[in-house]
Amino acid sequence: MSTVLSIETSCDETAVAIVKNRQVCSSIVNSQIPIHQQYGGVVPEVASRQHLEIINQAIALALTQANLTWQEIDGIAATCAPGLVGALLVGVTAAKTLAIVQQKPFIGVHHLEGHIYANYLSEPSLEPPFLSLLVSGGHTSLIYVKDCGVYETLGETRDDAAGEAFDKVARLLKLGYPGGPVIDKLAQEGNAKTFGLPEGNVSQPGGGYHPYDSSFSGLKTAVLRLVQQLEKEVQPLPVADIAASFQKSVARSLTKRAIACARDYGLTTIAVGGGVAANSGLRHHLTTAASTHNVRVLFPPLKFCTDNAAMIGCAAAEHLDRAHISPLTLGVQSRLPLTNVMQLYQKKD
Ligand code: KG4
Ligand code: ZN
Repeated sequence: MSTVLSIETSCDETAVAIVKNRQVCSSIVNSQIPIHQQYGGVVPEVASRQHLEIINQAIALALTQANLTWQEIDGIAATCAPGLVGALLVGVTAAKTLAIVQQKPFIGVHHLEGHIYANYLSEPSLEPPFLSLLVSGGHTSLIYVKDCGVYETLGETRDDAAGEAFDKVARLLKLGYPGGPVIDKLAQEGNAKTFGLPEGNVSQPGGGYHPYDSSFSGLKTAVLRLVQQLEKEVQPLPVADIAASFQKSVARSLTKRAIACARDYGLTTIAVGGGVAANSGLRHHLTTAASTHNVRVLFPPLKFCTDNAAMIGCAAAEHLDRAHISPLTLGVQSRLPLTNVMQLYQKKD
Protein backbone atom coordinates (compact mmCIF):
# COMPACT_ATOMS: atom_id res chain seq x y z
CA MET A 1 0.00 0.00 0.00
CA SER A 2 1.17 3.48 -0.85
CA THR A 3 2.46 6.14 1.52
CA VAL A 4 0.89 9.49 0.69
CA LEU A 5 1.44 13.08 1.80
CA SER A 6 -1.95 14.79 1.58
CA ILE A 7 -3.19 18.36 1.78
CA GLU A 8 -6.71 19.61 2.59
CA THR A 9 -7.58 23.31 2.19
CA SER A 10 -11.15 23.18 0.81
CA CYS A 11 -12.69 25.37 3.53
CA ASP A 12 -11.44 26.64 6.88
CA GLU A 13 -8.86 24.06 7.99
CA THR A 14 -5.29 24.05 6.71
CA ALA A 15 -4.42 20.38 7.03
CA VAL A 16 -1.50 18.17 5.99
CA ALA A 17 -1.04 14.49 6.80
CA ILE A 18 1.00 11.44 5.95
CA VAL A 19 -0.87 8.15 5.71
CA LYS A 20 0.61 4.70 5.27
CA ASN A 21 -1.33 1.42 5.16
CA ARG A 22 -4.53 3.11 6.36
CA GLN A 23 -2.63 4.42 9.38
CA VAL A 24 -1.86 7.99 10.23
CA CYS A 25 1.88 8.74 10.48
CA SER A 26 1.21 12.44 11.13
CA SER A 27 -1.76 14.77 10.94
CA ILE A 28 -1.57 18.56 11.22
CA VAL A 29 -4.90 20.42 11.37
CA ASN A 30 -4.75 24.16 11.74
CA SER A 31 -8.28 25.45 12.23
CA GLN A 32 -9.18 28.97 11.14
CA ILE A 33 -12.43 28.88 13.14
CA PRO A 34 -11.28 31.53 15.66
CA ILE A 35 -10.51 33.89 12.74
CA HIS A 36 -13.89 33.40 11.04
CA GLN A 37 -15.93 33.41 14.26
CA GLN A 38 -15.95 37.22 14.37
CA TYR A 39 -17.82 37.21 11.02
CA GLY A 40 -20.29 34.45 11.99
CA GLY A 41 -19.16 32.17 9.16
CA VAL A 42 -16.32 31.44 6.72
CA VAL A 43 -15.07 34.42 4.66
CA PRO A 44 -13.59 32.83 1.49
CA GLU A 45 -10.91 35.45 0.80
CA VAL A 46 -9.70 35.39 4.39
CA ALA A 47 -9.57 31.58 4.24
CA SER A 48 -7.35 31.52 1.11
CA ARG A 49 -4.89 34.02 2.57
CA GLN A 50 -4.67 32.13 5.83
CA HIS A 51 -4.02 28.81 4.01
CA LEU A 52 -1.23 30.50 2.06
CA GLU A 53 0.39 31.86 5.22
CA ILE A 54 0.83 28.50 6.90
CA ILE A 55 0.77 25.75 4.28
CA ASN A 56 4.57 25.44 3.97
CA GLN A 57 5.08 25.19 7.72
CA ALA A 58 2.32 22.58 7.95
CA ILE A 59 3.96 20.44 5.23
CA ALA A 60 7.35 20.61 6.95
CA LEU A 61 5.79 19.73 10.30
CA ALA A 62 3.91 16.73 8.86
CA LEU A 63 7.17 15.28 7.52
CA THR A 64 9.05 15.90 10.77
CA GLN A 65 6.32 14.40 12.94
CA ALA A 66 6.07 11.31 10.74
CA ASN A 67 9.85 11.01 10.83
CA LEU A 68 9.86 10.25 7.11
CA THR A 69 11.93 11.54 4.19
CA TRP A 70 10.68 12.41 0.69
CA GLN A 71 12.17 9.11 -0.60
CA GLU A 72 9.63 7.23 1.52
CA ILE A 73 6.63 9.12 0.08
CA ASP A 74 4.96 7.48 -2.95
CA GLY A 75 2.55 10.23 -3.95
CA ILE A 76 1.34 13.74 -3.15
CA ALA A 77 -2.38 14.46 -2.88
CA ALA A 78 -4.65 17.46 -2.40
CA THR A 79 -8.40 18.05 -2.25
CA CYS A 80 -9.34 19.59 -5.62
CA ALA A 81 -13.18 19.60 -5.37
CA PRO A 82 -15.70 20.56 -4.11
CA GLY A 83 -14.97 23.61 -1.96
CA LEU A 84 -14.01 27.27 -2.01
CA VAL A 85 -12.07 27.80 -5.23
CA GLY A 86 -9.42 30.16 -3.81
CA ALA A 87 -8.89 27.92 -0.80
CA LEU A 88 -8.64 24.73 -2.90
CA LEU A 89 -6.10 26.42 -5.19
CA VAL A 90 -3.62 26.88 -2.35
CA GLY A 91 -3.50 23.17 -1.49
CA VAL A 92 -3.58 21.95 -5.09
CA THR A 93 -0.78 24.34 -6.16
CA ALA A 94 1.36 23.28 -3.21
CA ALA A 95 0.80 19.57 -3.98
CA LYS A 96 1.53 19.94 -7.71
CA THR A 97 4.71 21.91 -6.99
CA LEU A 98 5.93 19.22 -4.59
CA ALA A 99 5.01 16.52 -7.11
CA ILE A 100 7.20 18.21 -9.75
CA VAL A 101 10.13 18.96 -7.43
CA GLN A 102 10.11 15.54 -5.75
CA GLN A 103 9.15 13.68 -8.96
CA LYS A 104 6.15 11.93 -7.43
CA PRO A 105 2.65 11.28 -8.81
CA PHE A 106 -0.02 13.87 -8.03
CA ILE A 107 -3.46 12.67 -6.90
CA GLY A 108 -6.39 15.13 -6.85
CA VAL A 109 -9.03 14.02 -4.33
CA HIS A 110 -12.77 14.64 -4.05
CA HIS A 111 -13.44 15.97 -0.55
CA LEU A 112 -16.41 13.65 0.06
CA GLU A 113 -14.40 10.60 -0.94
CA GLY A 114 -12.07 11.66 1.86
CA HIS A 115 -14.96 11.69 4.35
CA ILE A 116 -15.97 8.18 3.22
CA TYR A 117 -12.47 6.72 3.54
CA ALA A 118 -11.88 8.32 6.96
CA ASN A 119 -13.58 5.11 8.11
CA TYR A 120 -10.49 3.14 7.06
CA LEU A 121 -8.63 4.84 9.91
CA SER A 122 -10.83 3.16 12.52
CA GLU A 123 -11.55 0.00 10.51
CA PRO A 124 -8.56 -0.82 8.24
CA SER A 125 -10.16 -4.07 7.05
CA LEU A 126 -13.22 -2.29 5.59
CA GLU A 127 -13.76 -2.93 1.85
CA PRO A 128 -16.62 -2.05 -0.53
CA PRO A 129 -19.46 -2.70 -0.99
CA PHE A 130 -20.93 -0.68 1.85
CA LEU A 131 -23.35 2.20 2.39
CA SER A 132 -21.95 5.59 3.33
CA LEU A 133 -23.97 8.18 5.20
CA LEU A 134 -22.25 11.48 4.41
CA VAL A 135 -23.27 14.28 6.74
CA SER A 136 -21.21 17.46 6.56
CA GLY A 137 -21.74 21.21 6.43
CA GLY A 138 -22.46 21.12 2.70
CA HIS A 139 -23.76 17.58 2.06
CA THR A 140 -26.21 15.01 3.34
CA SER A 141 -26.24 11.90 1.16
CA LEU A 142 -26.59 8.16 1.20
CA ILE A 143 -23.96 6.74 -1.12
CA TYR A 144 -23.69 3.16 -2.32
CA VAL A 145 -19.91 2.59 -2.35
CA LYS A 146 -19.46 -0.15 -4.97
CA ASP A 147 -15.70 0.17 -5.39
CA CYS A 148 -13.05 2.88 -5.06
CA GLY A 149 -14.25 5.56 -7.50
CA VAL A 150 -17.59 3.84 -8.22
CA TYR A 151 -20.49 5.44 -6.38
CA GLU A 152 -24.26 5.69 -6.65
CA THR A 153 -26.21 8.36 -4.81
CA LEU A 154 -29.31 6.75 -3.32
CA GLY A 155 -30.59 9.61 -1.21
CA GLU A 156 -29.86 13.24 -0.44
CA THR A 157 -31.19 16.34 1.21
CA ARG A 158 -33.60 18.43 -0.83
CA ASP A 159 -32.45 21.67 0.84
CA ASP A 160 -30.19 22.29 3.85
CA ALA A 161 -27.43 19.82 4.71
CA ALA A 162 -27.49 18.34 8.22
CA GLY A 163 -24.45 20.37 9.35
CA GLU A 164 -25.96 23.51 7.83
CA ALA A 165 -29.13 22.90 9.88
CA PHE A 166 -27.02 22.66 13.05
CA ASP A 167 -25.23 25.89 12.12
CA LYS A 168 -28.47 27.78 11.31
CA VAL A 169 -30.27 26.60 14.45
CA ALA A 170 -27.22 27.56 16.55
CA ARG A 171 -27.29 31.00 14.97
CA LEU A 172 -30.95 31.54 15.81
CA LEU A 173 -30.28 30.37 19.37
CA LYS A 174 -27.35 32.87 19.41
CA LEU A 175 -24.81 30.13 20.10
CA GLY A 176 -22.20 31.21 17.53
CA TYR A 177 -20.37 29.35 14.75
CA PRO A 178 -19.85 26.47 14.07
CA GLY A 179 -23.13 25.28 15.55
CA GLY A 180 -22.76 21.50 15.64
CA PRO A 181 -20.35 21.10 18.53
CA VAL A 182 -22.17 23.68 20.73
CA ILE A 183 -25.61 22.15 20.14
CA ASP A 184 -24.20 18.67 20.75
CA LYS A 185 -22.77 19.77 24.12
CA LEU A 186 -25.92 21.65 25.18
CA ALA A 187 -28.18 18.79 24.06
CA GLN A 188 -26.52 16.51 26.59
CA GLU A 189 -27.85 18.76 29.38
CA GLY A 190 -31.37 19.04 27.91
CA ASN A 191 -34.47 16.87 27.64
CA ALA A 192 -35.03 15.71 24.04
CA LYS A 193 -38.67 14.89 24.75
CA THR A 194 -39.60 18.49 25.62
CA PHE A 195 -40.55 19.63 22.12
CA GLY A 196 -41.92 17.60 19.20
CA LEU A 197 -40.21 18.71 15.99
CA PRO A 198 -40.60 17.43 12.39
CA GLU A 199 -38.23 14.76 11.09
CA GLY A 200 -37.65 16.16 7.61
CA ASN A 201 -39.90 13.91 5.54
CA VAL A 202 -40.12 14.57 1.78
CA SER A 203 -43.48 13.87 0.09
CA GLN A 204 -43.50 11.78 -3.10
CA PRO A 205 -45.70 12.57 -6.14
CA GLY A 206 -47.53 9.22 -5.85
CA GLY A 207 -48.19 9.72 -2.12
CA GLY A 208 -46.24 8.78 0.99
CA TYR A 209 -42.69 9.86 1.76
CA HIS A 210 -39.46 9.40 -0.15
CA PRO A 211 -37.63 6.59 1.69
CA TYR A 212 -34.09 8.04 1.51
CA ASP A 213 -34.31 11.78 0.75
CA SER A 214 -34.55 14.30 3.58
CA SER A 215 -35.35 17.96 4.08
CA PHE A 216 -34.04 20.04 6.95
CA SER A 217 -35.27 23.53 6.12
CA GLY A 218 -38.74 22.79 7.57
CA LEU A 219 -37.14 21.63 10.80
CA LYS A 220 -35.11 24.83 10.99
CA THR A 221 -38.29 26.91 10.45
CA ALA A 222 -40.09 24.86 13.12
CA VAL A 223 -37.30 25.70 15.59
CA LEU A 224 -37.54 29.39 14.61
CA ARG A 225 -41.32 29.41 15.26
CA LEU A 226 -40.82 27.58 18.56
CA VAL A 227 -38.22 30.12 19.69
CA GLN A 228 -40.46 33.06 18.68
CA GLN A 229 -43.34 31.52 20.62
CA LEU A 230 -41.28 30.67 23.72
CA GLU A 231 -39.68 34.13 23.83
CA LYS A 232 -43.14 35.55 24.52
CA GLU A 233 -43.84 33.02 27.28
CA VAL A 234 -40.69 31.95 29.16
CA GLN A 235 -37.47 33.56 30.29
CA PRO A 236 -34.76 32.43 30.03
CA LEU A 237 -35.23 30.40 26.86
CA PRO A 238 -34.90 26.62 27.53
CA VAL A 239 -31.96 26.45 25.12
CA ALA A 240 -30.68 23.02 26.22
CA ASP A 241 -34.14 21.43 25.77
CA ILE A 242 -34.52 23.03 22.32
CA ALA A 243 -31.02 21.83 21.34
CA ALA A 244 -31.77 18.28 22.56
CA SER A 245 -35.15 18.14 20.78
CA PHE A 246 -33.65 19.45 17.53
CA GLN A 247 -30.68 17.05 17.69
CA LYS A 248 -33.00 14.11 18.29
CA SER A 249 -35.07 15.00 15.20
CA VAL A 250 -31.97 15.16 12.98
CA ALA A 251 -30.55 11.92 14.42
CA ARG A 252 -33.84 10.06 14.01
CA SER A 253 -34.33 11.35 10.48
CA LEU A 254 -30.85 10.27 9.36
CA THR A 255 -31.08 6.93 11.18
CA LYS A 256 -34.44 5.99 9.67
CA ARG A 257 -33.24 6.64 6.12
CA ALA A 258 -29.83 5.01 6.49
CA ILE A 259 -31.23 1.80 7.96
CA ALA A 260 -34.01 1.56 5.35
CA CYS A 261 -31.50 2.09 2.56
CA ALA A 262 -29.00 -0.48 3.88
CA ARG A 263 -31.74 -3.08 4.28
CA ASP A 264 -33.33 -2.43 0.86
CA TYR A 265 -29.96 -2.76 -0.90
CA GLY A 266 -28.77 -5.70 1.19
CA LEU A 267 -25.78 -3.77 2.56
CA THR A 268 -24.59 -4.92 5.96
CA THR A 269 -22.27 -2.00 6.80
CA ILE A 270 -23.02 1.71 7.11
CA ALA A 271 -19.90 3.90 7.26
CA VAL A 272 -20.71 7.42 8.44
CA GLY A 273 -18.57 10.41 7.47
CA GLY A 274 -18.44 14.22 7.67
CA GLY A 275 -18.55 16.70 10.55
CA VAL A 276 -21.99 15.58 11.78
CA ALA A 277 -20.59 12.03 12.23
CA ALA A 278 -19.07 13.51 15.41
CA ASN A 279 -22.55 14.12 16.81
CA SER A 280 -23.23 12.12 19.97
CA GLY A 281 -27.00 11.93 19.29
CA LEU A 282 -26.49 10.50 15.81
CA ARG A 283 -23.85 8.05 17.05
CA HIS A 284 -26.20 6.82 19.75
CA HIS A 285 -29.40 6.58 17.66
CA LEU A 286 -27.81 4.97 14.63
CA THR A 287 -25.74 2.46 16.61
CA THR A 288 -28.78 1.41 18.66
CA ALA A 289 -31.10 1.08 15.65
CA ALA A 290 -28.50 -0.77 13.55
CA SER A 291 -27.89 -3.37 16.23
CA THR A 292 -31.55 -4.38 16.13
CA HIS A 293 -31.36 -4.80 12.33
CA ASN A 294 -28.06 -6.71 12.20
CA VAL A 295 -26.34 -3.85 10.41
CA ARG A 296 -22.78 -2.84 11.36
CA VAL A 297 -22.24 0.91 11.81
CA LEU A 298 -18.80 2.51 11.61
CA PHE A 299 -17.79 6.02 12.56
CA PRO A 300 -14.33 7.53 11.99
CA PRO A 301 -12.33 8.49 15.09
CA LEU A 302 -13.81 11.79 16.37
CA LYS A 303 -10.93 13.99 15.23
CA PHE A 304 -11.18 12.59 11.68
CA CYS A 305 -14.94 13.32 11.33
CA THR A 306 -14.45 17.04 10.72
CA ASP A 307 -12.13 18.24 7.96
CA ASN A 308 -8.59 16.84 8.07
CA ALA A 309 -5.93 15.69 5.61
CA ALA A 310 -5.56 12.09 6.87
CA MET A 311 -8.89 11.19 5.25
CA ILE A 312 -7.69 12.74 1.97
CA GLY A 313 -4.53 10.62 2.22
CA CYS A 314 -6.65 7.48 2.73
CA ALA A 315 -8.68 8.17 -0.42
CA ALA A 316 -5.54 9.10 -2.40
CA ALA A 317 -3.74 5.89 -1.39
CA GLU A 318 -6.70 3.83 -2.64
CA HIS A 319 -6.48 5.58 -6.02
CA LEU A 320 -2.69 5.41 -6.24
CA ASP A 321 -2.77 1.67 -5.51
CA ARG A 322 -5.03 1.36 -8.59
CA ALA A 323 -2.72 3.59 -10.70
CA HIS A 324 -5.30 6.40 -10.74
CA ILE A 325 -3.07 9.47 -11.13
CA SER A 326 -4.15 13.05 -11.89
CA PRO A 327 -2.64 15.18 -14.67
CA LEU A 328 -0.71 18.26 -13.51
CA THR A 329 -3.17 20.30 -15.59
CA LEU A 330 -6.02 19.33 -13.22
CA GLY A 331 -7.91 22.38 -11.99
CA VAL A 332 -10.08 22.96 -8.92
CA GLN A 333 -13.89 22.88 -8.95
CA SER A 334 -16.35 24.41 -6.52
CA ARG A 335 -18.81 21.60 -7.30
CA LEU A 336 -18.34 18.09 -8.59
CA PRO A 337 -20.78 15.20 -8.11
CA LEU A 338 -19.14 12.25 -6.38
CA THR A 339 -20.37 10.06 -9.21
CA ASN A 340 -18.00 11.93 -11.59
CA VAL A 341 -14.91 11.42 -9.47
CA MET A 342 -13.02 9.34 -12.06
CA GLN A 343 -12.77 12.52 -14.18
CA LEU A 344 -9.93 13.50 -11.88
CA TYR A 345 -7.67 10.69 -13.10
CA GLN A 346 -5.85 9.91 -16.32
CA LYS A 347 -6.99 6.86 -18.19
CA LYS A 348 -4.64 3.92 -17.89
CA ASP A 349 -2.93 2.95 -21.20
O1 KG4 B 1 -17.07 17.84 7.32
P1 KG4 B 1 -16.96 19.20 7.89
O2 KG4 B 1 -15.82 19.48 8.86
O3 KG4 B 1 -16.88 20.27 6.76
C1 KG4 B 1 -17.59 20.15 5.57
O4 KG4 B 1 -17.11 19.41 4.67
O5 KG4 B 1 -18.69 20.76 5.53
O6 KG4 B 1 -18.36 19.50 8.60
C2 KG4 B 1 -18.60 20.70 9.25
C3 KG4 B 1 -20.02 20.65 9.78
C4 KG4 B 1 -20.47 21.96 10.40
O7 KG4 B 1 -21.75 22.26 9.90
C5 KG4 B 1 -20.51 21.65 11.90
O8 KG4 B 1 -21.48 22.41 12.59
C6 KG4 B 1 -20.84 20.17 11.89
O9 KG4 B 1 -20.12 19.64 10.80
N1 KG4 B 1 -20.42 19.49 13.14
C7 KG4 B 1 -21.29 18.89 13.96
C8 KG4 B 1 -20.52 18.42 15.06
N2 KG4 B 1 -19.21 18.73 14.84
C9 KG4 B 1 -19.17 19.40 13.64
N3 KG4 B 1 -22.63 18.75 13.89
C10 KG4 B 1 -23.23 18.09 14.90
N4 KG4 B 1 -22.57 17.63 15.99
C11 KG4 B 1 -21.24 17.75 16.12
N5 KG4 B 1 -20.60 17.28 17.20
ZN1 ZN C 1 -15.74 18.15 5.00
